[in-house]
Amino acid sequence: MKKVCIIGISGKLGQYMTQHCLDLGYEVVGVCRPQSVHKLDRFKDQITVFPGRTDDRAVVQQAVKGCDGVLTVLAPWGVNDYASGTAQAVMDFAEPDARLIFSCGWHITKDGKDTYGLKIRSIVWLFSWLGPLLRLVDLNDQVEATNRIFASDRLWTVVRGSDLEEGESDGLPVWAEHVGDPVLASNMTKRIDFALFMVHALRDDRLIHQAPAIVGRNTASAKAELLHQHAS
Ligand SMILES: NC(=O)c1ccc[n+]([C@@H]2O[C@H](COP(=O)([O-])OP(=O)(O)OC[C@H]3O[C@@H](n4cnc5c(N)ncnc54)[C@H](OP(=O)(O)O)[C@@H]3O)[C@@H](O)[C@H]2O)c1
Repeated sequence: MKKVCIIGISGKLGQYMTQHCLDLGYEVVGVCRPQSVHKLDRFKDQITVFPGRTDDRAVVQQAVKGCDGVLTVLAPWGVNDYASGTAQAVMDFAEPDARLIFSCGWHITKDGKDTYGLKIRSIVWLFSWLGPLLRLVDLNDQVEATNRIFASDRLWTVVRGSDLEEGESDGLPVWAEHVGDPVLASNMTKRIDFALFMVHALRDDRLIHQAPAIVGRNTASAKAELLHQHAS
């Protein structure tokens, strides 16, 4: 992995991913909205930014050229197919052998085998109806985006984040194939470690065509599982 593109580089997750990539010695380019370029001032001599909406196909095409990996923040903003437009542009224009890593939440399901508690079901139900009405968020379009990714033969990984919090890193999160697995019960990950997992996935071929659901490795549920593994 030499050159990585981060789509949605100016957000919180994007900035953490930028730092992890620079720490690994990767060349970093990224796309963010023109009004957000200033958020990247602390990296300005170390990265190349292509200003533009993340669903702007011409900007994405230019940015992903020559990249071995693309890290995409799939955000369900607005009502104009923003997330699906972003995912489609990345899949259409990334280099044929590039590793493509996308972020989303636990509510996304690859095979329908996830089991959800009442809290997640209620939030998803509320946002699915209220979001488009308020013209702010379109969770259904994030589902459309990931369905297109799951159907693609590109080298993708869809990383599904739990609830997030800020704070110092606890190290690489633990993951499970399905929400509902006891290891995930704590439902909390540091945002810096979500970014760490995204960047880690670029080089972990076991994650190709997987949709890992992650949780912080220092949470009670993850620790219980790690203890169990040691004992057996
Ligand atoms: N927040 C959570 O609790 C949570 C939980 C699980 C998974 N996730 C996933 O984690 C990823 C990052 O989410 P995050 O909440 O941590 O936020 P984040 O990293 O701050 O990223 C938000 C992204 O959305 C962009 N954005 C904000 N307002 C926008 C608008 N009106 N139109 C277009 N783009 C806009 C931001 O760009 P600008 O810099 O230009 O504003 C940024 O790239 C997402 O894939 C999300 O599904 C989040």
